[in-house]
Amino acid sequence: MRMKMILQSWTASRGKKLALAVVALGLATAVSAAVIPQLFAFFDPTGVIATYNLNGPLDHSNPFFQSLGTNGRSCSTCHIASNAMGLSTQNIQERFFSTRGQDPLFAAIDGANCPNGSSGNPADHSLLLGHGLIRIPLTVPTPNPVQFQIVATHDPYGCALVTDPTSGEQTASVFRRPLPTTNLKFLSTIMFDGRETILPLNDRTTDPANLFSDLMHQAVDATTTHAQGLPPTTAQQTAIVNFELGLFSAQVFDNQAGFLVTNVAQGGPVNLSQAAYYPGINDTLGQDPNHIPFNPTVFTLFAGFANPTDSRDPFARALAAAQKNIAAGEAIFNTHTFSISNVRGLNDNAALATALGTTLPIASFEGTCTTCHDAPNVGDHSLPLPLDIGTGHDPATETDPQIASALAQLDFPDLPVYQITGCSNPFATAQTAGEPYVVNTTDPGKGLITGACSDVNRIKGPILRGLASRAPYFHNGAAQNLDQLVNFYNQRFQMNLSDEEKKQLIAFLNSL
Ligand code: HEC
Ligand code: HEC
Repeated sequence: MRMKMILQSWTASRGKKLALAVVALGLATAVSAAVIPQLFAFFDPTGVIATYNLNGPLDHSNPFFQSLGTNGRSCSTCHIASNAMGLSTQNIQERFFSTRGQDPLFAAIDGANCPNGSSGNPADHSLLLGHGLIRIPLTVPTPNPVQFQIVATHDPYGCALVTDPTSGEQTASVFRRPLPTTNLKFLSTIMFDGRETILPLNDRTTDPANLFSDLMHQAVDATTTHAQGLPPTTAQQTAIVNFELGLFSAQVFDNQAGFLVTNVAQGGPVNLSQAAYYPGINDTLGQDPNHIPFNPTVFTLFAGFANPTDSRDPFARALAAAQKNIAAGEAIFNTHTFSISNVRGLNDNAALATALGTTLPIASFEGTCTTCHDAPNVGDHSLPLPLDIGTGHDPATETDPQIASALAQLDFPDLPVYQITGCSNPFATAQTAGEPYVVNTTDPGKGLITGACSDVNRIKGPILRGLASRAPYFHNGAAQNLDQLVNFYNQRFQMNLSDEEKKQLIAFLNSL
């Protein structure tokens, strides 16, 4: 739906006075949005999400929208404009029930819990229907020497770890959310485990060419795996990648706070398309190639909402209060400090230890949400830095009390559990060194790509834009909504957020 139509139906469906207040406030934006033909806007649970296509109107003949394989799927089966180019469980459930499970999304190859799932049976698609999860089969690497052993200790669907009878190769199934195919210019890592970052995205001189090349490679793998097809032609790959790189998505309108693109707020995808970015920008660990020190104020979109002009009109006051909440949430994200412990990739990071003037392992250090989400106004990490914050740990066997209580806030899916042995404990102290170390995990992350102990459980933090339209969250869809996500963080890092602060943080995240 285009912005103009949305405005009309929105105006019709709400009280006129409130609509007028909002429209008056955002008039300039609304008019400009309605006349940008490359802006595609859709309702979502908290407002309106828009995708802006730098390359002009959406061209549905682009191979991104074409079935290139054998099961009827296209890229747009799992990457949907109304979900900020990701995929919400709401969309999945609607498609399951309207097609009785016959939509190509539910192809058994990876749209069922296991490839032998029967078509149309909701129980065989429970991870996709309940948590938005696609099965990712990954060959267990066998480096020589092998660093770790992996076994499945919980196999609820029967395909956790499968050994090929002829080659002896093992395939592990992990289950992950589709990452959005938008805002790609800001990526430092492709896929949660980085397996498509073939050429590194860590240097400003090579970044654009490497990103293009990586995405070309990714388009081939996506077609051969998800669509069960032959590799697309170079021309098709090029068209897909050019299309993806032109897309920018962000929330433009909030049901409570009105337009997020005003003379004082810089939300929305057009502003995002102009955000400054280069690998290492605002790096937390001091690796910005311009030697600019890390600034924890990563998001600067909504500070202008903090001090609204006074009004006696009750509608204007309600709007102003909602805007203030968003600004307050942004400030919490940027500045609320807490202590970070037991994060693989940070607390065992030698460069960080040096910067902090301490030795490994770092028991804990003070940080903010932006310690990890450091790319300005985007929210991923501007250099490759896979992390383990605990989201994929097995809740049943977790021993860290903070991680266990954080996991208890989530609606954790019934996933296969893998036990990894043979590694040493990255957080071992003089007292615990030498004790056997066992990792129980639902997703070994980058460890399944490299086979290295130091990579076990580590995954990237995604770009934090367009969140409102693409619940659930985390790689395994364990946070059904932002309430669960914020409660997770509140426990994980003992943030002591008040109910008011949680609401503000959620209002901010929904406005991205
Ligand atoms: C069956 C669903 C499905 C289909 C079809 C699909 N994808 Fe994806 N896509 C995913 C999942 C799941 C991930 C994340 C997987 C992971 O991280 O291991 C993903 C990740 C991506 C990413 C990485 C984004 C990032 O932030 O790292 C890109 C780019 C992408 N897909 C492009 C495509 C293209 C191009 C096509 C069509 C050729 C396509 N996808 C088809 C499910 C799908
Ligand atoms: C120690 C590093 C770290 C800190 C601190 C951190 N995050 Fe994250 N964040 C991550 C990683 C890694 C992921 C990916 C986890 C996953 O997908 O399982 C993530 C994922 C997310 C997501 C989900 C995105 C999606 O598309 O599913 C949101 C939202 C988010 N973080 C918000 C926050 C907020 C709010 C804070 C502060 C309260 C915060 N993060 C603090 C590392 C961090």
